[in-house]
Amino acid sequence: MKSVEIFENQRASNYNTFVETWIPNYHYFMNNLPNILNDTENKNLLVVGCGTGAEIERFTNTSTSWKVTGIDPSPEMISQAIEKFKNVGNVQLIEGTIDDINSAEKFGAATLLLVLHFIEGIEAKFDLLKSISAKLESNAPFVLLDITGTKQQIKENLKILSHLLPTNLDKEDVKNRLYRIENKLHAISEDQLKEIIVKAGFETPTRFFQNSIYMGWITRKR
Ligand SMILES: C[S@@+](CC[C@H](N)C(=O)[O-])C[C@H]1O[C@@H](n2cnc3c(N)ncnc32)[C@H](O)[C@@H]1O
Repeated sequence: MKSVEIFENQRASNYNTFVETWIPNYHYFMNNLPNILNDTENKNLLVVGCGTGAEIERFTNTSTSWKVTGIDPSPEMISQAIEKFKNVGNVQLIEGTIDDINSAEKFGAATLLLVLHFIEGIEAKFDLLKSISAKLESNAPFVLLDITGTKQQIKENLKILSHLLPTNLDKEDVKNRLYRIENKLHAISEDQLKEIIVKAGFETPTRFFQNSIYMGWITRKR
């Protein structure tokens, strides 16, 4: 089982362009995160798998003052985030996994965006969700964005995704990536995802967003 997926070289340096191309409405989702979490009482946010800081940026750009902790095990991804926020207060970045957060302080909200489908095996996914749950105070909201679905659902939604991509992409590259998403990533069904989220100590999640294979979920720590 693989519990960490390291993004390096081209994959890290081209990350921002890649997500914009391959995840329809990525910006819409990200831009609305602070609105979705606006009612959070304790504005101390944990961003798990923060990558280059796409979600953190949204929180540092609002009038509400959030305190943000971002963690990511990929040195090349988090170094882009460190550079981006070097002059911004209230942002702490940690290279590592959730187990590298030493503080006993509980967070008031958390996000896990585009991470879980890289983690192989339902037990490893569950372990990550359980570790996030342990870091949150009761009632804290938790937002996920992930490739979700049964094999058949993913297959059908990949056909839709292929129609949503920009038309100028290299056809071979598109074919390879669609193959990789279908066969090499570790998506689970909506029912399996709900089950491990609840088992990890959260309420039954609500799916509030979907674009082809990508589903956005919100829940709260019980
Ligand atoms: C597709 S990127 C998503 C980055 C960011 N959340 C975004 O939406 O732009 C996936 C990130 O998950 C990180 N990652 C992989 N395994 C992880 C784990 N076990 N815990 C936390 N982050 C992990 C990778 O290093 C990578 O930066």
